[in-house]
Amino acid sequence: NSYKAEADTDFVLPKNHEWARNIVKKWKHSSDTIHTIAPVVVGGEDLIGERKIYDAIDKSQFEDNVLAGRFALANEEDIKRAVEVAKEDVDGWRDLTHSQRHYILKDVAIKFRERRDDLIGIAGAEVGKVFTETDVEVSEAIDFVEFYSHAVRHFESYENLELKGKGVGVVVPPWNFPIAIPVGGVASTLAAGNTVIIKPASVAALCAYEMCKCFWDAGVSKNTLQFLPCPGALAGEHLIPNKDIDFLILTGGEDTAATMMETRNDLFLSAETGGKDATIVTNMADREQAVKNVCQSAFGNSGQKCSATSLLVLEDEVYNDKGFKKALIDTATSMNVGSIWDFKNRIGTLANKVGGNLEKALNQLEGNETWAVEPSYENNNPYMLKPSIKWGVEEGSFIHMNELFGPVLAVMRASDLEHAVKIVNDTGYGLTSGIESLDEREVTYWKENLKAGNLYVNRGTTGAIVLRQPFGGMGKSAIGAGRKAGFYNYITQFVDINEKTSPK
Ligand code: SER
Repeated sequence: NSYKAEADTDFVLPKNHEWARNIVKKWKHSSDTIHTIAPVVVGGEDLIGERKIYDAIDKSQFEDNVLAGRFALANEEDIKRAVEVAKEDVDGWRDLTHSQRHYILKDVAIKFRERRDDLIGIAGAEVGKVFTETDVEVSEAIDFVEFYSHAVRHFESYENLELKGKGVGVVVPPWNFPIAIPVGGVASTLAAGNTVIIKPASVAALCAYEMCKCFWDAGVSKNTLQFLPCPGALAGEHLIPNKDIDFLILTGGEDTAATMMETRNDLFLSAETGGKDATIVTNMADREQAVKNVCQSAFGNSGQKCSATSLLVLEDEVYNDKGFKKALIDTATSMNVGSIWDFKNRIGTLANKVGGNLEKALNQLEGNETWAVEPSYENNNPYMLKPSIKWGVEEGSFIHMNELFGPVLAVMRASDLEHAVKIVNDTGYGLTSGIESLDEREVTYWKENLKAGNLYVNRGTTGAIVLRQPFGGMGKSAIGAGRKAGFYNYITQFVDINEKTSPK
């Protein structure tokens, strides 16, 4: 009963080239070859009928209108039924022993290992993630399933206490980590002994369906885990207010979290709500290493990560180092953007067309800001936005204070480390943060003063590893008990703890 992290695929090995090419063969033309429509799955039934159908477009093949697939949308009755079924099913699942649930989840992890290729294919087609990025996600998904199933066995060691699932959990995941984050929510909820309804993001519903299949095929019943894709407004009106829901796990915007709390102030909400993450590079940094870590953290998956470095705060000497600036520009502009079906591309497509904060940041220069790398699109495809870098960003400006969720890096100057830390803390967010410095004293000062949940030293700010780097923020980045995903106490949020009436 020990836990070990899953290894990622080594895409350099020749045998894996063939494997990767087969993913392209199957999923690049998925709408020709995969004719099925993903159903709503409620009360043990696959439901399509007269329901509205959503067409998911493959953004890499946007001009040709190639579909990634299709799925049915739940209606008001489906939502009501899903909550009824989830409530009815609670006792059966909760009354299994912790060991029984542990072994079922171990079988789920096996399904994820078997289907790594399909998960990579569907995430590529539906949300435009390149293979290497989804590969890491599948490993993280396996880690979540293995880790929470391992963690639940600790429940057995409390001799006088009984830990029992709270009841019905609802998981509302984001689209940017379309496999790992939904799996983390579902696996933790199930491990703790609750039934679960997943309301996927519309942009990533096919990925969520594919991951649900791993749970069902391993023996989790379609009453215990229900799949309920529907528009956010419908969920807001009919799912969240339903009093038979016991808790909610959200990864999404602050607005969504605030609305949920307004609707249900009696409900336990565990929410991760974004970031404005920074990397500080001090005069004492290995500058080559800093460039590499920053570019991967800022532009990987087009910057569509709550953990992405979107502020680069440079101490004076580094800010004025022309060689550093050139290396940063060269690295950013050499990251190929384009179709995820072509392996030379390091960055795929945006999940949505540019809008909101990202559009505003792309269209304006405030104060003394200039573009070190101007924004542009590959092939005029509105989903293929290339990395850009804004230089000379001033404190309190729009791009300093607001999350963009795109491949735009804002570079700021700090007179010293204390100033740099202030610039970062002033955003009010506190999810991830990085420092590049080879000086222990600087690192110690930074750790003591920087307000963020995940602090990384001489490492990129994305890609937290389960158990080794439990993931979660503070400040504007989190709501709830503040427990981190990928750690033991995460699942204790979803149980009631009582004294045993008759000790064994
Ligand atoms: N866990 C992800 C990361 O660390 C973000 O959700 O990048």
